[in-house]
Amino acid sequence: MSDSIFSPAFGNRPSTLVGRTLTLDAILGGLDSEPGSKERSTLVLGQRGSGKTVLLWELADRAREKGFVVASPTVASDDMPNRIIEKIQDDGERYIKGGRGKLVGGTVGALGFSVGLQFSSEIQETKSFGYKLLKLSERLEQQNRGILVLVDEVQGSSPELKQLISAYLELVGEGRNAAIVFAGLPGAISSVLNDRVLTFLNRAHKVVLDPLPEGDIDAYFTHAFAAAGVQIAPELRREAARATKGSPYMLQLVGHNIVQYAGESGAVDERVLQEALESSRVSFERDVCETTLAALSGKDVAFLRAMAADEIESNMTDIAERMGVGADYAQKYRKRLIDTGIITATRRGYVAFAVPYLADHLRNNA
Ligand SMILES: Nc1ncnc2c1ncn2[C@@H]1O[C@H](COP(=O)(O)OP(=O)(O)O)[C@@H](O)[C@H]1O
Ligand SMILES: [Mg+2]
Repeated sequence: MSDSIFSPAFGNRPSTLVGRTLTLDAILGGLDSEPGSKERSTLVLGQRGSGKTVLLWELADRAREKGFVVASPTVASDDMPNRIIEKIQDDGERYIKGGRGKLVGGTVGALGFSVGLQFSSEIQETKSFGYKLLKLSERLEQQNRGILVLVDEVQGSSPELKQLISAYLELVGEGRNAAIVFAGLPGAISSVLNDRVLTFLNRAHKVVLDPLPEGDIDAYFTHAFAAAGVQIAPELRREAARATKGSPYMLQLVGHNIVQYAGESGAVDERVLQEALESSRVSFERDVCETTLAALSGKDVAFLRAMAADEIESNMTDIAERMGVGADYAQKYRKRLIDTGIITATRRGYVAFAVPYLADHLRNNA
């Protein structure tokens, strides 16, 4: 059976965005706040597969509806500043050009533009990223348009990130109608950042992409399976929802595999469900668990392995003992892993895994 409903691939926009209404509203609400206010800079944090990238794309659409010119998600890398300028020019062009290519508001050549939002060659070649961004925002504000910049996969600091933040702070200083949203792994701001980037990101409005509520997932499955022509008993459907552990990526994997394993008949029994869940877990462990572990140091992994011996939560004294290290040493790794969002403190002296299936993955791959 072909599956046009589920899309288990990173960055793929889902046919329905499950359970992020409040998060989106909170970020979009910030766009209405006073220029320069804290709510206009947001940092979205979440594990792999928690839906950061697709949330940014959704924000792009919704912000455009509110009248913002949007630089769609750009990965924090080398060419980021240029890409942001180009994206704002592309998205904002339609507000500058009137019918039949006529320019509206302001004269040709004003503020150093040639046509529409394209800079004159002098500006293009000699001016900095910050200058261009400021000119674009001025030009767009004449048409009552604000600017929203979306940055994906922020990690560590780079000269480009520093450049972007400095330019944004200049816009804020000039009272421009601008906003910025960053997305990254929870560890993105605990790693070695230079002062300016760190200070800015620390002050930003933080939004954590928590696991989706099981009820939301089950409600979505009910509707999505019906649309896909899949017949599944309510208790099996609920088991499928539970197996996602609230991860959007796992939701897509489970949904997709159920449609695949159901085959032409569309009938899902216990055996079909178990096959689909097993296949989903294999993909999730490979794409999320293994990738998460690969980014950690050997000692971090040793700490997690020591935790994996326990069922629900682990006592810090036991962990230190299993690692064969002192309590202070174990504390250091505890803090690092909490910062990355991979584990959480459950109560005094105890920690638990926060990434689904990571404990199973470690147990099965000793
Ligand atoms: N709210 C959501 N509802 C349904 N599916 C989602 C949701 N958020 C993300 N997804 C799906 O989960 C997967 C991972 O999303 P992605 O945005 O790439 O995660 P991240 O950028 O955090 O690694 C994709 O297949 C995407 O379609
Ligand atoms: Mg992503």
